[in-house]
Amino acid sequence: MWRVMHMWFLLFTICCSEAKTINSDHPQLPCIFIFGDSLSDSGNNNRLRTTGKTNYPPYGIDFPSGQPTGRFTNGRTTVDFIAEHLGFKGFIPPFSDANTGVNISKGINYASGGAGIRTETGRMLTLYDNGARKVALFGLGFIGCTIAEISMYGASRSGCVDRINNAVLLFNEKLVSLVDELNGSFSDAKFTYLNTTAITPSQGFKVLNASCCQVNRLSGLCLANSIPCSNKSEYFFWDSFHPTEAVNVITGGRAYNAQEPSYAHPLDISQLASLSLPN
Ligand SMILES: *[C@@H]1O[C@H](CO)[C@@H](O)[C@H](O)[C@H]1NC(C)=O
Ligand SMILES: *[C@@H]1O[C@H](CO)[C@@H](O)[C@H](O)[C@H]1NC(C)=O
Ligand SMILES: *[C@@H]1O[C@H](CO)[C@@H](O)[C@H](O)[C@H]1NC(C)=O
Ligand SMILES: *[C@@H]1O[C@H](CO)[C@@H](O)[C@H](O)[C@H]1NC(C)=O
Ligand SMILES: *[C@@H]1O[C@H](CO)[C@@H](O)[C@H](O)[C@H]1NC(C)=O
Repeated sequence: MWRVMHMWFLLFTICCSEAKTINSDHPQLPCIFIFGDSLSDSGNNNRLRTTGKTNYPPYGIDFPSGQPTGRFTNGRTTVDFIAEHLGFKGFIPPFSDANTGVNISKGINYASGGAGIRTETGRMLTLYDNGARKVALFGLGFIGCTIAEISMYGASRSGCVDRINNAVLLFNEKLVSLVDELNGSFSDAKFTYLNTTAITPSQGFKVLNASCCQVNRLSGLCLANSIPCSNKSEYFFWDSFHPTEAVNVITGGRAYNAQEPSYAHPLDISQLASLSLPN
């Protein structure tokens, strides 16, 4: 059950009734709404009845506040970096904070390690009805290359669990078709696909087969208050599932500004943000 929640899957909705001019004081879009799993969770799981919580050290030790927030990494997530590129100051608040008086004028992060796709679809349709017109859909990453899956199923000759990665590729192909279909059927909106397997850096990290933090072998999450590796930027994996901030900064940068044609189909986030749509 827990493993299913950990899919490398992230939906990212950009609401845009009227894009503001791009300058240093204003974000490129009025607000963004984020859907997804633990890779983009910014604290929603903290208040859910779930064992998948990460609101304890060493999670968050490299977060600007130096405190755990419920993010499943040592610092910021990929969507944190994307929001930063879009010009948002501060972080998009998690849904779980929405009734605590926090200012939600720049959007809400619904992503949760405990989220189900069905509730997310409902929220997205509501957002569409309320004017959300720019949607970025992220494909799955190579789940079969996570430490957790490899230790559970054993590596194929490729070094990853091929069976799982083949399913990932199949899913992503269908997602690309869906994006094309949605673009055809909603002429007043724009949908784009971000190729997670392509934008996630596969090089530049010395250690790919071990996590930086010491993990609980059942949950794959970091042991509370354990001392993580000293050189976090050399590690791809923070815990058995989730990448380090060093990976997320690259993934977020490439999603925002795709230097390779394979990274995005048809638009990267910066192009999506600057697009003018009919009213
Ligand atoms: C929320 O933030 C926006 C933009 O910074 C501001 O215009 C608005 O007044 C704020 N709302 C509240 C209730 O503080
Ligand atoms: C999106 O759909 C429109 C038709 O609504 C079509 O003209 C256009 O070529 C499509 N663009 C992409 C990139 O799929
Ligand atoms: C994603 O990128 C890879 C290259 O890294 C490419 O082989 C693949 O076709 C791309 N997938 C899609 C659905 O565009
Ligand atoms: C990781 O791979 C290296 C060789 O590349 C090996 O020496 C090391 O034992 C492996 N670590 C684990 C935890 O499998
Ligand atoms: C950490 O890793 C980076 C990148 O490999 C390297 O430049 C740096 O010297 C390392 N620092 C330490 C303290 O090992």
